Amino acid sequence: MKKSQKKTPLFDTLYQHARRHVISFHTPGHKNGRAIDKRLKDFTGKNLYYFDVTVFPEVDSLHDPVSTIKKAQRLTAEAYGVKYSFFLVNGSSVGNEAMFLSACNPGDSVILSRNAHKSVLSGIILSGVWPIWIQPKVDQDLEIIFDSSPEQIEQALNQFPEAKAVFVTTPTYNGVTTDLVKIAELVHRRGKILLVDEAHGPHLKFHPDLPISAVEAGADLCVQSTHKILSALSQGSVLHFNSELIDLNRVRKIVSLLQTTSPNYLILASIDLARRQVALYGEKMFHPIIKYAEETRRKINQLKNFSCFTRGEIRARGYDLDVTKLTINVTRSGLSGYKIEEILNQEYNIQVDCADLFNLIAILGIGSTRTDLEKLTQALKKIDSATGGAKGTNVRESLQLPSLSTEMVMMPRDVFLMQKVKRIPLRKAAGHIAAQSLTPYPPGIPVLIPGERITPEIRDYLLGLSNKEIRVTGQETDTLKTIKVVS
Ligand SMILES: Cc1ncc(COP(=O)(O)O)c(C=O)c1O
Repeated sequence: MKKSQKKTPLFDTLYQHARRHVISFHTPGHKNGRAIDKRLKDFTGKNLYYFDVTVFPEVDSLHDPVSTIKKAQRLTAEAYGVKYSFFLVNGSSVGNEAMFLSACNPGDSVILSRNAHKSVLSGIILSGVWPIWIQPKVDQDLEIIFDSSPEQIEQALNQFPEAKAVFVTTPTYNGVTTDLVKIAELVHRRGKILLVDEAHGPHLKFHPDLPISAVEAGADLCVQSTHKILSALSQGSVLHFNSELIDLNRVRKIVSLLQTTSPNYLILASIDLARRQVALYGEKMFHPIIKYAEETRRKINQLKNFSCFTRGEIRARGYDLDVTKLTINVTRSGLSGYKIEEILNQEYNIQVDCADLFNLIAILGIGSTRTDLEKLTQALKKIDSATGGAKGTNVRESLQLPSLSTEMVMMPRDVFLMQKVKRIPLRKAAGHIAAQSLTPYPPGIPVLIPGERITPEIRDYLLGLSNKEIRVTGQETDTLKTIKVVS
Protein backbone atom coordinates (compact mmCIF):
# COMPACT_ATOMS: atom_id res chain seq x y z
CA MET A 1 0.00 0.00 0.00
CA LYS A 2 1.24 3.46 -0.90
CA LYS A 3 2.80 5.72 1.75
CA SER A 4 0.13 8.32 1.03
CA GLN A 5 -2.38 6.03 2.75
CA LYS A 6 -0.87 7.02 6.09
CA LYS A 7 -2.44 10.46 5.66
CA THR A 8 -5.79 11.47 7.14
CA PRO A 9 -6.33 15.01 5.81
CA LEU A 10 -9.90 15.40 7.00
CA PHE A 11 -9.36 14.03 10.47
CA ASP A 12 -6.18 16.12 10.88
CA THR A 13 -7.92 19.34 9.92
CA LEU A 14 -10.83 18.69 12.27
CA TYR A 15 -8.49 17.69 15.07
CA GLN A 16 -6.50 20.91 14.70
CA HIS A 17 -9.71 22.88 14.61
CA ALA A 18 -11.16 21.08 17.65
CA ARG A 19 -8.02 21.76 19.69
CA ARG A 20 -8.34 25.49 19.10
CA HIS A 21 -11.70 25.72 20.93
CA VAL A 22 -12.82 28.32 18.40
CA ILE A 23 -15.75 30.50 19.53
CA SER A 24 -18.74 29.28 17.58
CA PHE A 25 -21.17 31.58 15.86
CA HIS A 26 -22.20 28.76 13.53
CA THR A 27 -24.50 25.77 13.72
CA PRO A 28 -24.97 23.45 15.59
CA GLY A 29 -26.64 25.22 18.48
CA HIS A 30 -24.96 23.31 21.29
CA LYS A 31 -21.84 25.49 20.74
CA ASN A 32 -18.91 23.11 21.07
CA GLY A 33 -20.93 20.85 23.34
CA ARG A 34 -21.66 23.52 25.97
CA ALA A 35 -25.43 22.96 25.83
CA ILE A 36 -25.34 19.20 25.46
CA ASP A 37 -27.29 17.46 28.22
CA LYS A 38 -24.94 16.72 31.11
CA ARG A 39 -25.87 13.04 31.27
CA LEU A 40 -24.70 12.53 27.70
CA LYS A 41 -21.62 14.72 28.07
CA ASP A 42 -20.59 13.00 31.31
CA PHE A 43 -20.68 9.70 29.49
CA THR A 44 -18.99 10.71 26.23
CA GLY A 45 -16.59 13.37 27.45
CA LYS A 46 -16.67 16.90 26.08
CA ASN A 47 -14.04 16.81 23.32
CA LEU A 48 -16.28 14.93 20.92
CA TYR A 49 -18.46 17.99 20.40
CA TYR A 50 -15.63 20.16 19.11
CA PHE A 51 -15.73 17.95 16.03
CA ASP A 52 -19.39 18.72 15.42
CA VAL A 53 -19.01 21.75 13.17
CA THR A 54 -20.65 23.21 10.11
CA VAL A 55 -19.35 23.93 6.62
CA PHE A 56 -16.69 26.64 6.47
CA PRO A 57 -13.55 26.97 4.36
CA GLU A 58 -11.18 25.46 6.94
CA VAL A 59 -13.06 22.12 7.03
CA ASP A 60 -14.24 22.09 3.38
CA SER A 61 -17.67 21.33 1.92
CA LEU A 62 -19.01 17.87 1.13
CA HIS A 63 -21.04 19.35 -1.73
CA ASP A 64 -18.18 21.16 -3.40
CA PRO A 65 -15.00 19.69 -1.97
CA VAL A 66 -11.85 21.63 -2.79
CA SER A 67 -9.44 20.87 0.05
CA THR A 68 -9.55 18.38 2.94
CA ILE A 69 -12.64 16.43 1.90
CA LYS A 70 -11.37 16.33 -1.68
CA LYS A 71 -8.05 14.90 -0.48
CA ALA A 72 -9.72 12.38 1.84
CA GLN A 73 -12.02 11.15 -0.94
CA ARG A 74 -9.05 10.91 -3.32
CA LEU A 75 -7.14 8.75 -0.83
CA THR A 76 -10.18 6.50 -0.50
CA ALA A 77 -10.40 6.13 -4.27
CA GLU A 78 -6.68 5.29 -4.32
CA ALA A 79 -7.06 2.66 -1.58
CA TYR A 80 -9.92 0.94 -3.41
CA GLY A 81 -8.40 1.36 -6.88
CA VAL A 82 -11.30 3.34 -8.36
CA LYS A 83 -11.61 6.61 -10.26
CA TYR A 84 -13.56 8.52 -7.61
CA SER A 85 -15.06 7.93 -4.17
CA PHE A 86 -17.90 9.90 -2.58
CA PHE A 87 -18.32 10.06 1.19
CA LEU A 88 -21.93 9.43 2.24
CA VAL A 89 -23.53 10.43 5.53
CA ASN A 90 -26.82 8.58 5.08
CA GLY A 91 -25.41 5.12 4.73
CA SER A 92 -25.55 2.83 1.73
CA SER A 93 -29.26 3.59 1.60
CA VAL A 94 -28.52 6.94 -0.02
CA GLY A 95 -25.83 5.25 -2.13
CA ASN A 96 -28.36 2.85 -3.60
CA GLU A 97 -30.69 5.70 -4.45
CA ALA A 98 -27.80 7.62 -6.02
CA MET A 99 -26.78 4.63 -8.16
CA PHE A 100 -30.23 4.37 -9.76
CA LEU A 101 -30.52 8.11 -10.35
CA SER A 102 -26.99 8.29 -11.77
CA ALA A 103 -27.23 5.33 -14.12
CA CYS A 104 -30.79 5.64 -15.40
CA ASN A 105 -33.29 8.02 -16.89
CA PRO A 106 -37.03 7.76 -16.21
CA GLY A 107 -38.46 4.88 -18.22
CA ASP A 108 -35.21 2.88 -18.37
CA SER A 109 -35.29 -0.65 -17.03
CA VAL A 110 -32.96 -2.38 -14.59
CA ILE A 111 -32.50 -6.11 -13.92
CA LEU A 112 -32.31 -7.00 -10.25
CA SER A 113 -33.19 -9.59 -7.67
CA ARG A 114 -36.36 -9.18 -5.57
CA ASN A 115 -34.46 -9.60 -2.29
CA ALA A 116 -32.71 -6.22 -2.66
CA HIS A 117 -32.57 -3.88 0.36
CA LYS A 118 -35.56 -1.58 0.85
CA SER A 119 -33.52 1.48 -0.20
CA VAL A 120 -33.39 -0.07 -3.67
CA LEU A 121 -37.14 0.40 -4.03
CA SER A 122 -36.58 4.03 -3.00
CA GLY A 123 -34.02 4.28 -5.80
CA ILE A 124 -36.49 2.76 -8.25
CA ILE A 125 -39.22 5.20 -7.19
CA LEU A 126 -36.97 8.24 -7.23
CA SER A 127 -35.47 7.45 -10.63
CA GLY A 128 -38.69 6.26 -12.28
CA VAL A 129 -37.26 3.05 -13.72
CA TRP A 130 -38.97 -0.20 -14.59
CA PRO A 131 -37.59 -3.00 -12.44
CA ILE A 132 -37.12 -6.36 -14.15
CA TRP A 133 -37.25 -8.73 -11.22
CA ILE A 134 -35.26 -11.93 -10.88
CA GLN A 135 -36.83 -14.35 -8.42
CA PRO A 136 -33.99 -15.29 -6.06
CA LYS A 137 -33.21 -18.89 -5.27
CA VAL A 138 -34.17 -20.01 -1.80
CA ASP A 139 -32.01 -22.81 -0.43
CA GLN A 140 -34.29 -25.03 1.63
CA ASP A 141 -31.40 -26.86 3.31
CA LEU A 142 -29.46 -23.80 4.41
CA GLU A 143 -32.61 -21.71 4.78
CA ILE A 144 -31.12 -18.66 3.07
CA ILE A 145 -31.64 -16.67 -0.12
CA PHE A 146 -29.10 -16.35 -2.91
CA ASP A 147 -28.82 -13.19 -4.99
CA SER A 148 -28.70 -13.51 -8.78
CA SER A 149 -26.29 -15.98 -10.36
CA PRO A 150 -24.54 -15.21 -13.68
CA GLU A 151 -26.90 -17.70 -15.36
CA GLN A 152 -30.00 -15.90 -14.09
CA ILE A 153 -28.59 -12.56 -15.20
CA GLU A 154 -27.63 -13.87 -18.62
CA GLN A 155 -31.13 -15.23 -19.08
CA ALA A 156 -32.67 -11.91 -18.04
CA LEU A 157 -30.33 -9.98 -20.36
CA ASN A 158 -31.32 -12.24 -23.25
CA GLN A 159 -34.99 -11.84 -22.45
CA PHE A 160 -34.84 -8.07 -21.84
CA PRO A 161 -32.11 -6.71 -24.13
CA GLU A 162 -33.48 -3.19 -23.59
CA ALA A 163 -32.32 -3.19 -19.93
CA LYS A 164 -30.01 -0.28 -19.19
CA ALA A 165 -28.33 -1.75 -16.13
CA VAL A 166 -27.98 -4.75 -13.85
CA PHE A 167 -28.09 -4.31 -10.09
CA VAL A 168 -26.60 -6.94 -7.77
CA THR A 169 -26.45 -7.24 -3.98
CA THR A 170 -23.25 -8.98 -2.99
CA PRO A 171 -22.39 -9.98 -0.30
CA THR A 172 -25.89 -10.58 0.98
CA TYR A 173 -26.75 -10.11 4.63
CA ASN A 174 -25.52 -13.68 5.13
CA GLY A 175 -22.13 -12.86 3.59
CA VAL A 176 -22.83 -14.88 0.44
CA THR A 177 -21.24 -13.45 -2.71
CA THR A 178 -22.17 -14.15 -6.28
CA ASP A 179 -19.71 -14.55 -9.18
CA LEU A 180 -19.26 -10.85 -9.91
CA VAL A 181 -16.36 -11.30 -12.31
CA LYS A 182 -18.57 -13.36 -14.61
CA ILE A 183 -21.50 -11.00 -14.15
CA ALA A 184 -19.35 -7.93 -14.93
CA GLU A 185 -18.13 -9.63 -18.09
CA LEU A 186 -21.68 -10.53 -19.18
CA VAL A 187 -23.03 -7.07 -18.46
CA HIS A 188 -20.21 -5.08 -20.03
CA ARG A 189 -20.06 -7.27 -23.13
CA ARG A 190 -23.57 -5.98 -23.86
CA GLY A 191 -22.66 -2.37 -23.05
CA LYS A 192 -24.83 -2.34 -19.91
CA ILE A 193 -24.05 -0.78 -16.57
CA LEU A 194 -23.24 -2.83 -13.45
CA LEU A 195 -24.42 -1.42 -10.12
CA VAL A 196 -23.43 -3.24 -6.95
CA ASP A 197 -24.78 -2.95 -3.43
CA GLU A 198 -21.69 -4.01 -1.51
CA ALA A 199 -22.95 -2.56 1.78
CA HIS A 200 -21.56 -5.62 3.56
CA GLY A 201 -18.22 -5.71 1.77
CA PRO A 202 -16.00 -2.65 2.43
CA HIS A 203 -13.30 -4.98 3.79
CA LEU A 204 -13.23 -7.59 1.02
CA LYS A 205 -10.48 -5.94 -1.00
CA PHE A 206 -8.07 -6.00 1.91
CA HIS A 207 -7.68 -9.70 2.63
CA PRO A 208 -6.80 -12.46 0.14
CA ASP A 209 -8.94 -15.03 1.99
CA LEU A 210 -12.13 -13.02 1.43
CA PRO A 211 -14.22 -13.10 -1.76
CA ILE A 212 -13.36 -10.68 -4.53
CA SER A 213 -14.68 -7.16 -4.08
CA ALA A 214 -16.97 -5.32 -6.51
CA VAL A 215 -14.35 -2.62 -7.01
CA GLU A 216 -11.95 -5.28 -8.35
CA ALA A 217 -14.57 -7.28 -10.24
CA GLY A 218 -15.55 -4.32 -12.43
CA ALA A 219 -18.66 -2.61 -11.02
CA ASP A 220 -19.43 0.77 -12.61
CA LEU A 221 -20.82 2.06 -9.33
CA CYS A 222 -20.64 0.33 -6.00
CA VAL A 223 -21.76 1.34 -2.54
CA GLN A 224 -20.16 0.15 0.69
CA SER A 225 -21.25 0.69 4.29
CA THR A 226 -17.92 1.62 5.82
CA HIS A 227 -19.73 1.67 9.15
CA LYS A 228 -20.99 -1.92 8.97
CA ILE A 229 -17.67 -3.78 8.98
CA LEU A 230 -14.92 -1.16 9.21
CA SER A 231 -14.54 1.45 11.91
CA ALA A 232 -16.56 4.38 10.53
CA LEU A 233 -19.42 5.67 12.65
CA SER A 234 -22.96 4.64 11.74
CA GLN A 235 -24.21 6.28 8.53
CA GLY A 236 -20.65 6.54 7.17
CA SER A 237 -20.58 4.91 3.73
CA VAL A 238 -18.78 5.34 0.42
CA LEU A 239 -19.99 5.33 -3.17
CA HIS A 240 -17.25 4.27 -5.58
CA PHE A 241 -17.26 5.37 -9.22
CA ASN A 242 -15.27 3.34 -11.72
CA SER A 243 -17.13 3.67 -14.99
CA GLU A 244 -16.65 4.45 -18.65
CA LEU A 245 -20.44 4.42 -19.13
CA ILE A 246 -21.66 6.93 -16.54
CA ASP A 247 -20.86 10.63 -16.37
CA LEU A 248 -18.99 11.43 -13.16
CA ASN A 249 -20.45 14.93 -13.04
CA ARG A 250 -23.93 13.48 -13.06
CA VAL A 251 -23.06 11.25 -10.10
CA ARG A 252 -21.62 14.30 -8.34
CA LYS A 253 -24.84 16.25 -8.82
CA ILE A 254 -27.04 13.35 -7.73
CA VAL A 255 -25.04 12.63 -4.58
CA SER A 256 -25.24 16.32 -3.73
CA LEU A 257 -28.98 16.36 -4.45
CA LEU A 258 -29.61 13.54 -2.01
CA GLN A 259 -27.36 14.46 0.91
CA THR A 260 -27.86 16.89 3.77
CA THR A 261 -26.18 20.28 3.67
CA SER A 262 -25.22 19.73 7.32
CA PRO A 263 -23.13 16.55 7.23
CA ASN A 264 -21.80 15.30 10.53
CA TYR A 265 -18.04 15.92 10.36
CA LEU A 266 -17.37 13.29 12.98
CA ILE A 267 -18.86 10.73 10.61
CA LEU A 268 -16.82 12.12 7.71
CA ALA A 269 -13.62 12.06 9.78
CA SER A 270 -14.34 8.49 10.83
CA ILE A 271 -14.53 7.42 7.17
CA ASP A 272 -11.14 9.05 6.59
CA LEU A 273 -9.66 7.18 9.58
CA ALA A 274 -11.35 3.88 8.68
CA ARG A 275 -9.88 4.05 5.18
CA ARG A 276 -6.37 4.61 6.58
CA GLN A 277 -6.79 1.76 9.03
CA VAL A 278 -8.00 -0.78 6.51
CA ALA A 279 -5.57 0.33 3.80
CA LEU A 280 -2.55 0.02 6.11
CA TYR A 281 -3.55 -2.78 8.45
CA GLY A 282 -6.61 -4.44 6.91
CA GLU A 283 -4.92 -7.72 6.10
CA LYS A 284 -3.25 -7.94 9.50
CA MET A 285 -6.43 -7.03 11.36
CA PHE A 286 -8.77 -9.33 9.44
CA HIS A 287 -6.43 -12.30 9.60
CA PRO A 288 -7.28 -13.21 13.23
CA ILE A 289 -10.93 -12.28 12.73
CA ILE A 290 -11.23 -14.76 9.87
CA LYS A 291 -9.51 -17.37 12.01
CA TYR A 292 -11.78 -16.78 15.04
CA ALA A 293 -14.87 -16.79 12.84
CA GLU A 294 -13.92 -20.17 11.40
CA GLU A 295 -13.08 -21.48 14.88
CA THR A 296 -16.51 -20.35 16.12
CA ARG A 297 -18.24 -21.87 13.10
CA ARG A 298 -16.61 -25.24 13.86
CA LYS A 299 -17.62 -25.08 17.53
CA ILE A 300 -21.20 -24.13 16.72
CA ASN A 301 -21.37 -27.01 14.29
CA GLN A 302 -20.57 -29.39 17.15
CA LEU A 303 -23.68 -28.29 19.09
CA LYS A 304 -26.78 -30.41 18.83
CA ASN A 305 -29.29 -27.66 18.05
CA PHE A 306 -27.35 -24.98 16.20
CA SER A 307 -25.46 -24.95 12.95
CA CYS A 308 -23.54 -22.54 10.79
CA PHE A 309 -23.05 -23.14 7.07
CA THR A 310 -19.50 -23.28 5.81
CA ARG A 311 -17.66 -21.75 2.88
CA GLY A 312 -17.40 -25.23 1.36
CA GLU A 313 -21.19 -25.64 1.41
CA ILE A 314 -21.69 -22.24 -0.22
CA ARG A 315 -19.00 -22.85 -2.84
CA ALA A 316 -20.63 -26.15 -3.72
CA ARG A 317 -23.68 -24.08 -4.72
CA GLY A 318 -21.66 -21.85 -7.07
CA TYR A 319 -21.35 -18.90 -4.68
CA ASP A 320 -18.68 -17.77 -2.21
CA LEU A 321 -18.76 -16.76 1.45
CA ASP A 322 -17.30 -13.97 3.53
CA VAL A 323 -16.63 -16.19 6.54
CA THR A 324 -16.68 -13.25 8.96
CA LYS A 325 -20.49 -13.40 8.86
CA LEU A 326 -21.97 -16.13 11.01
CA THR A 327 -25.45 -17.25 10.06
CA ILE A 328 -26.50 -19.44 12.97
CA ASN A 329 -29.38 -21.74 12.16
CA VAL A 330 -31.55 -22.47 15.20
CA THR A 331 -34.41 -24.56 13.79
CA ARG A 332 -33.35 -27.77 15.55
CA SER A 333 -33.68 -26.04 18.94
CA GLY A 334 -37.44 -25.72 18.63
CA LEU A 335 -37.07 -22.02 19.43
CA SER A 336 -37.24 -19.23 16.90
CA GLY A 337 -34.29 -17.04 16.07
CA TYR A 338 -36.20 -14.13 17.65
CA LYS A 339 -36.42 -16.02 20.97
CA ILE A 340 -32.73 -16.91 20.97
CA GLU A 341 -31.84 -13.32 20.11
CA GLU A 342 -33.83 -12.26 23.19
CA ILE A 343 -32.15 -14.85 25.43
CA LEU A 344 -28.71 -13.77 24.23
CA ASN A 345 -29.57 -10.14 24.92
CA GLN A 346 -31.26 -10.59 28.31
CA GLU A 347 -29.22 -13.39 29.83
CA TYR A 348 -25.82 -13.12 28.19
CA ASN A 349 -25.44 -9.43 27.32
CA ILE A 350 -24.89 -10.27 23.67
CA GLN A 351 -26.70 -8.60 20.77
CA VAL A 352 -26.66 -10.10 17.27
CA ASP A 353 -27.29 -8.02 14.16
CA CYS A 354 -30.63 -9.62 13.33
CA ALA A 355 -32.79 -12.69 13.69
CA ASP A 356 -35.63 -14.38 11.85
CA LEU A 357 -37.56 -17.56 12.54
CA PHE A 358 -34.68 -19.81 11.55
CA ASN A 359 -31.45 -17.86 11.87
CA LEU A 360 -29.38 -15.43 13.84
CA ILE A 361 -26.86 -13.30 12.00
CA ALA A 362 -23.74 -12.37 13.92
CA ILE A 363 -21.67 -9.81 12.03
CA LEU A 364 -18.01 -9.53 12.89
CA GLY A 365 -16.19 -6.30 12.25
CA ILE A 366 -12.69 -4.92 12.36
CA GLY A 367 -13.16 -4.44 16.14
CA SER A 368 -14.24 -8.03 16.91
CA THR A 369 -12.12 -10.05 19.35
CA ARG A 370 -11.63 -13.71 20.15
CA THR A 371 -13.13 -13.11 23.63
CA ASP A 372 -16.36 -11.81 22.07
CA LEU A 373 -16.60 -14.95 19.95
CA GLU A 374 -15.80 -17.22 22.87
CA LYS A 375 -18.61 -15.59 24.85
CA LEU A 376 -21.02 -16.14 21.98
CA THR A 377 -19.98 -19.80 21.68
CA GLN A 378 -20.30 -20.31 25.45
CA ALA A 379 -23.74 -18.72 25.51
CA LEU A 380 -24.95 -20.85 22.61
CA LYS A 381 -23.51 -23.94 24.29
CA LYS A 382 -25.51 -23.21 27.45
CA ILE A 383 -28.70 -22.48 25.53
CA ASP A 384 -28.08 -25.65 23.53
CA SER A 385 -27.92 -27.87 26.57
CA ALA A 386 -30.97 -26.18 28.11
CA THR A 387 -33.21 -26.62 25.06
CA GLY A 388 -34.91 -29.88 24.29
CA GLY A 389 -34.90 -29.63 20.53
CA ALA A 390 -37.64 -29.26 17.96
CA LYS A 391 -40.58 -31.58 18.00
CA GLY A 392 -41.49 -31.09 14.42
CA THR A 393 -41.48 -27.43 13.58
CA ASN A 394 -44.12 -26.18 11.22
CA VAL A 395 -42.39 -22.94 10.32
CA ARG A 396 -40.16 -24.51 7.71
CA GLU A 397 -42.79 -24.32 5.04
CA SER A 398 -42.83 -20.54 5.35
CA LEU A 399 -39.56 -20.34 3.46
CA GLN A 400 -41.31 -21.79 0.47
CA LEU A 401 -42.68 -19.15 -1.81
CA PRO A 402 -45.24 -20.15 -4.38
CA SER A 403 -43.73 -20.06 -7.85
CA LEU A 404 -44.86 -16.50 -8.18
CA SER A 405 -45.19 -15.24 -11.66
CA THR A 406 -45.51 -11.53 -11.07
CA GLU A 407 -46.36 -8.89 -13.62
CA MET A 408 -45.43 -5.23 -13.26
CA VAL A 409 -48.25 -3.31 -14.85
CA MET A 410 -47.42 0.11 -13.43
CA MET A 411 -44.14 1.74 -12.57
CA PRO A 412 -43.52 1.74 -8.79
CA ARG A 413 -42.95 5.50 -9.03
CA ASP A 414 -46.37 6.12 -10.62
CA VAL A 415 -48.08 4.05 -7.95
CA PHE A 416 -46.15 5.78 -5.18
CA LEU A 417 -47.09 9.25 -6.38
CA MET A 418 -50.69 8.32 -7.08
CA GLN A 419 -53.41 9.85 -4.92
CA LYS A 420 -56.00 7.26 -5.88
CA VAL A 421 -55.35 4.22 -3.73
CA LYS A 422 -57.82 2.30 -1.61
CA ARG A 423 -57.79 -0.43 1.00
CA ILE A 424 -59.79 -3.54 0.16
CA PRO A 425 -60.25 -6.98 1.80
CA LEU A 426 -57.36 -9.25 0.86
CA ARG A 427 -59.77 -11.98 -0.20
CA LYS A 428 -61.09 -9.65 -2.92
CA ALA A 429 -57.66 -8.50 -4.11
CA ALA A 430 -57.06 -10.77 -7.11
CA GLY A 431 -56.88 -8.76 -10.33
CA HIS A 432 -56.05 -5.46 -8.59
CA ILE A 433 -52.71 -3.63 -8.76
CA ALA A 434 -50.77 -3.56 -5.49
CA ALA A 435 -50.08 -0.13 -4.02
CA GLN A 436 -47.80 -1.45 -1.26
CA SER A 437 -44.94 -3.87 -0.76
CA LEU A 438 -45.51 -6.98 1.31
CA THR A 439 -42.49 -8.98 2.42
CA PRO A 440 -42.80 -11.99 4.71
CA TYR A 441 -39.78 -12.77 6.93
CA PRO A 442 -38.60 -15.36 6.29
CA PRO A 443 -37.66 -15.58 3.53
CA GLY A 444 -37.44 -11.77 3.11
CA ILE A 445 -38.45 -11.67 -0.54
CA PRO A 446 -41.29 -9.30 -1.41
CA VAL A 447 -44.41 -11.16 -2.49
CA LEU A 448 -45.80 -7.93 -3.87
CA ILE A 449 -44.22 -4.70 -5.00
CA PRO A 450 -46.17 -1.52 -5.83
CA GLY A 451 -47.30 -1.74 -9.45
CA GLU A 452 -47.67 -5.52 -9.58
CA ARG A 453 -50.89 -7.33 -10.44
CA ILE A 454 -52.24 -9.44 -7.56
CA THR A 455 -52.87 -12.95 -8.86
CA PRO A 456 -55.23 -15.45 -7.16
CA GLU A 457 -52.12 -17.44 -6.21
CA ILE A 458 -50.51 -14.45 -4.45
CA ARG A 459 -53.77 -13.61 -2.69
CA ASP A 460 -54.09 -17.20 -1.40
CA TYR A 461 -50.47 -17.23 -0.25
CA LEU A 462 -50.95 -13.97 1.69
CA LEU A 463 -54.20 -15.21 3.20
CA GLY A 464 -52.29 -18.30 4.35
CA LEU A 465 -49.57 -16.14 5.95
CA SER A 466 -52.13 -14.04 7.82
CA ASN A 467 -53.07 -17.21 9.74
CA LYS A 468 -49.47 -18.01 10.78
CA GLU A 469 -46.82 -16.42 12.93
CA ILE A 470 -45.11 -14.87 9.92
CA ARG A 471 -44.24 -11.20 10.04
CA VAL A 472 -45.16 -9.47 6.82
CA THR A 473 -43.23 -6.25 6.53
CA GLY A 474 -45.30 -3.54 4.88
CA GLN A 475 -48.62 -4.56 6.41
CA GLU A 476 -50.12 -1.37 7.74
CA THR A 477 -52.70 -2.98 10.01
CA ASP A 478 -52.35 -5.43 12.91
CA THR A 479 -53.53 -8.33 10.82
CA LEU A 480 -53.11 -8.87 7.14
CA LYS A 481 -56.81 -8.89 6.24
CA THR A 482 -56.74 -5.88 3.91
CA ILE A 483 -54.43 -4.58 1.24
CA LYS A 484 -53.82 -1.24 -0.45
CA VAL A 485 -54.46 -1.27 -4.19
CA VAL A 486 -54.66 1.23 -7.02
CA SER A 487 -58.18 2.64 -7.33
C1 LIG B 1 -27.67 -5.25 1.55
C2 LIG B 1 -27.88 -3.91 2.16
N1 LIG B 1 -27.84 -2.83 1.39
C3 LIG B 1 -27.99 -1.58 1.87
C4 LIG B 1 -28.21 -1.39 3.21
C5 LIG B 1 -28.37 0.01 3.72
O1 LIG B 1 -27.19 0.37 4.33
P1 LIG B 1 -27.09 1.55 5.39
O2 LIG B 1 -27.62 1.02 6.68
O3 LIG B 1 -25.63 1.86 5.41
O4 LIG B 1 -27.91 2.68 4.86
C6 LIG B 1 -28.27 -2.49 4.07
C7 LIG B 1 -28.53 -2.30 5.50
O5 LIG B 1 -28.68 -3.20 6.27
C8 LIG B 1 -28.11 -3.79 3.53
O6 LIG B 1 -28.16 -4.87 4.31
